[in-house]
Order: sequence, then C-alpha cells, then structure tokens
Amino acid sequence: MADPKGNKLLVNLGASQVRCRLKGFGHGVRKVQSAGRHRAVIIHTAIGRHLQELEARFADVGFFTTESPLDHLEKGSGDSMRLGDFSKQADSYRRARPTYPDTLVELLVADARVGPGDPVVEFGAGTGIFTRLLVERKFRVTAIEPNDQMRIQSDVPDARWLNGTFEVSGLENASQRWAVAAQAFHWADPQQSLPEIRRVLQPDGLFTVLWNDRANEKSEILSWTENAIRRHVPDYDEAYRNREWQVVLESTGDFTLVAHRAVSHVVRMSKQRYLELWKSHNRLNTIAGPVRFAALLLEITEHLEQQQVEDLEVPYRCESWSARRRG
Ligand SMILES: C[S@@+](CC[C@H](N)C(=O)[O-])C[C@H]1O[C@@H](n2cnc3c(N)ncnc32)[C@H](O)[C@@H]1O
Repeated sequence: MADPKGNKLLVNLGASQVRCRLKGFGHGVRKVQSAGRHRAVIIHTAIGRHLQELEARFADVGFFTTESPLDHLEKGSGDSMRLGDFSKQADSYRRARPTYPDTLVELLVADARVGPGDPVVEFGAGTGIFTRLLVERKFRVTAIEPNDQMRIQSDVPDARWLNGTFEVSGLENASQRWAVAAQAFHWADPQQSLPEIRRVLQPDGLFTVLWNDRANEKSEILSWTENAIRRHVPDYDEAYRNREWQVVLESTGDFTLVAHRAVSHVVRMSKQRYLELWKSHNRLNTIAGPVRFAALLLEITEHLEQQQVEDLEVPYRCESWSARRRG
C-alpha cells in the first residue's frame, strides 16, 4: 500500500518506542515506519504549534526533518520553516550569499555556446544572485523561482520572473538555449525534472548545475565554525548535495555530461555579513531549530569578537556539471 502523503520526521528511536511516545498525540500523525534498528520515520501533516509539539517529543533523541520540494509548494510558503523553504531566510540570503566566480561563468557560457539575446533559463533563481550574472551578459533571461519571498527579495528586473519549479516550469517546448541551476538542483526531483528541462531546451541545449562550497580546510574561521556546528547540531551534515552529479544528470537518459569544472575563489566580507551568511542557511536553521540555532550564532558572534575580527576572507570552491540534451 502506498505511503500516506505528508512530511517526514526521521527520529533516532526505534518504531515501537516512537509509537509509545506518540500515544495521545492526535495532531496529524499518519504513519510510523521503521527506518533501521534505532530509527523511525513519522509521516505527518502537523504544522505550526502542533509540529513544535511533535518535534519536542523527540528533542532528547534527535530528529531530522525531510520534505519533498513539491510538498512545501502545495502547502504554500507561509508555515513553519522547512527544508527547501527559504521564506524566512530570503532577506539574509540576498544580503549575505556570495556570487559566483567570473572565470567559471565565462567557461560555462562558452560550453553552452550562448551569446547576447539568446534565451537562457535559471531554475531555483532565489533572489537572483546568479540571474544577475546572466542579465549582465545580455542573455534573454527567464528566472524560475517557486518561493514568493525569494522572488520578492530579488532585484534583477531585467529578467522575466516566473513562479514555477524544476518539475513544472511553465515554459514552452524547445524555447531555451541554456538552462542553469545555481545552488538549487539538490532540491529537485531528478526523475521528474530532467525530462521537463529537456523539453524546454532547444536541440543541443545545455543544462548546467553548480554549487559554491565553502573551502573549510583553507580557513581557520570556517574550520572553527564547522567545529561549533558539530558541537551544537551534531545531527547536521552537508553530504546532502555531495551526490554523483554526473550519474544523477544522466540517470533518465535525457542528458549526457559534457564538462565538469571547478574554480576556487575568495569572498571578502564583514563580520556582520559572515553572521548573515549562517542566518541564510536554510538546512542548518531547520535541523537545528530556533534554540540550538540561536546558541550557535551567539557562540560565533562571541568568537569573532574575542578574535577581534572585523573583516574576513571566506574561501570557496565553485563546482559545475554541464550536460547536453540528448536527441
Ligand atoms: C539555495 S537557493 C539558490 C538561489 C540562487 N540560485 C542562488 O544562486 O543564490 C535554492 C532555491 O531553490 C528553490 N527551490 C526549492 N525547490 C525547488 C524546486 N522544486 N524547483 C525550483 N526551485 C526550487 C528555493 O526556493 C530557493 O530559492
């Protein structure tokens, strides 16, 4: 029988103990499934105060919230902070997140064989950090972003902004020369989105995914922060986007990888921006919950003050995978 629809809360406790703890909790728990010896998944529809109550029952053992990207779209973006829903971080996101290195963008543009006036779409455009780089190169840019708050925070009016997703873009068949997803494709469902992206691309069109990753090993403050995160939020890990992207991109037969690139760069920022950077981190925020997240931010703030840091250089490694539309 198919699982009931709902969000998933993965808890570090066996299924029978979870069921015991949930006795008398009537707010939207639809199913409890075993997920290994000491782990279970609660499928639920609890939101707001009820969700907080549900999470509180497992605060001592640790829990992890998962949600398919489309679920939060169906519910709208207004309820409590969930993975992939950047509503609450949109402002920090716009102010703090780094842009992408020009040298890499130039290489990607050459791989995509696009020039001024060509139609280019960005999926998961957020507040427009990458969109701006496309507009500056005079492409005819469509920015697709499902989150209202992110679109409101964007200030790249020369792009056409649409409310859509990787899975359902709303674009015409074969209308785009290049499709890009910066810091976003890990939210997509590859099985649904790759055929959709192929559909909107012209024959021979390119799809590029890229991520800016902090180079923790190259910076004392980043390694210190990573350590602090491990202490405050031990259930957090960043492996969620370290996937075999070539395998993922080629998994549906719609694309063939043509280039994998990586460029290192350094972003100079103020102490305040460094703090904003962490505030804009949806996944860490969501997994930590408000109490642990506030404690972490406080410790980072105190550390920067003790070290008398005013400005800092944050090293990144930006990595991309470009795949050509097949057939
Ligand atoms: C980390 S932000 C990246 C924003 C921007 N591309 C950048 O480089 O700063 C990820 C964005 O993907 C969006 N997103 C999440 N699920 C999505 C989906 N299924 N389809 C399209 N966008 C999605 C989120 O709303 C968010 O704005």
